[in-house]
Amino acid sequence: MMAITAPLIAELFAHAARSPSAHNTQPWMPRFAPATTPASPAEVHVAVDPARTLPVGDPNSQDLHLAMGCWVESFTIAAAEVGIDVVIGSVRGRGPALEIRLLLTALPDQPGASDLWPNFTSADLQHRQVDRGPLRRAEEPFATAFAAAERALAASGMASVEGTALVEVPHHLWETSLTRATRYSYSHADIFTETLEWLRFDRRATSYSEDGLSADCLQIPRSLAAVAARLNAARLRPWIGGLTSAALAPVEFVDSLRATVVRRTSRDRRSSAPASTDGPAPLHHLVLVKDATAHSAGAHSLARQEIELGRNLLRTWLLLDRHDLRVDVHSEIKDCPQTRSAVSDYLLHDHGLHALPVAAFSVGRSTTAVPRSSRRPVEPTHS
Ligand SMILES: Cc1cc2nc3c(=O)[nH]c(=O)nc-3n(C[C@H](O)[C@H](O)[C@H](O)COP(=O)(O)O)c2cc1C
Repeated sequence: MMAITAPLIAELFAHAARSPSAHNTQPWMPRFAPATTPASPAEVHVAVDPARTLPVGDPNSQDLHLAMGCWVESFTIAAAEVGIDVVIGSVRGRGPALEIRLLLTALPDQPGASDLWPNFTSADLQHRQVDRGPLRRAEEPFATAFAAAERALAASGMASVEGTALVEVPHHLWETSLTRATRYSYSHADIFTETLEWLRFDRRATSYSEDGLSADCLQIPRSLAAVAARLNAARLRPWIGGLTSAALAPVEFVDSLRATVVRRTSRDRRSSAPASTDGPAPLHHLVLVKDATAHSAGAHSLARQEIELGRNLLRTWLLLDRHDLRVDVHSEIKDCPQTRSAVSDYLLHDHGLHALPVAAFSVGRSTTAVPRSSRRPVEPTHS
């Protein structure tokens, strides 16, 4: 049986740190609590760093809870690989006050293969990446992966969040939603200003290799990144945010940010034009949805639900990755009230689902090398 020691837990924390999070904020703060008696389990307590939340863009903490769920799932996968079983002991609070208690048990044998999801490993965690470059439609791998994810979600939904489903959204609905949601992001200077805080343009700054969205990941050319690094000073951010909301588009800095961060839809049009035109075939677009009719017993259970959804989201992205497919995430579609309800209407009328999207992403095969996103160094396991 594997001994649950601080150095081993530090290794598992390092694997879990590859988890995805909105704007690469990495909000998790895990701490190891060794077993106090031979009969009690070792524990890991995961709290939130309030400085790593997005109070403006994510006011209900949904993306925060999803990211925490992704972390819990990543940790669980890495732990299972070394024969440690992880279960959630409790979830308390929500948003920046969220606290998750994980109970760890060393198993006498390696766990058997799951019949729902592939047995993911730390290699899968290291390999997965979001790709903001041009993706290519890949019909067969998508069909296989989508069917497998649908099956696994339907079965695991019983145990986690009932009504969780993965649904494909037609290209025309995706395109119109993306255009509208992008406009929504521009017209809210405070959302845009908050996003600017998480952009990393200056390669010499420590933060460039630790968190946020780097110029490399956003595929911004070096020369432009150097200009942007000077402009994206904290004191100028409200001004830049104001410029976008006032639609003063000719400013080159703002324009290039639009093209990369909030993504002008023309790039999507290029990479996703209908097959009948000269362009490449459109990408597949998916939403992870939750039941809109499920009554939450309170704020705590909603956080718990969203943590489970985050775990399912990570498994889905890992499954797609096993089929050599990457995702390009567009949370603005589920954040913008009009596009969220347009997608909900589609779910109701075409799928009979009373559901809300919690995550929205395009899926395809990478066509260029994907720069690796940065991560903070892992903290010591005791505090
Ligand atoms: C809940 C959630 C929401 C996200 N929303 C977006 C988004 O709207 N746009 C985007 O480009 N990436 C989005 N991402 C992806 C993150 O930016 C990405 O995970 C992070 O930069 C780390 O990169 P990696 O996943 O390639 O390791 C989201 C990720 C999560 C978990």
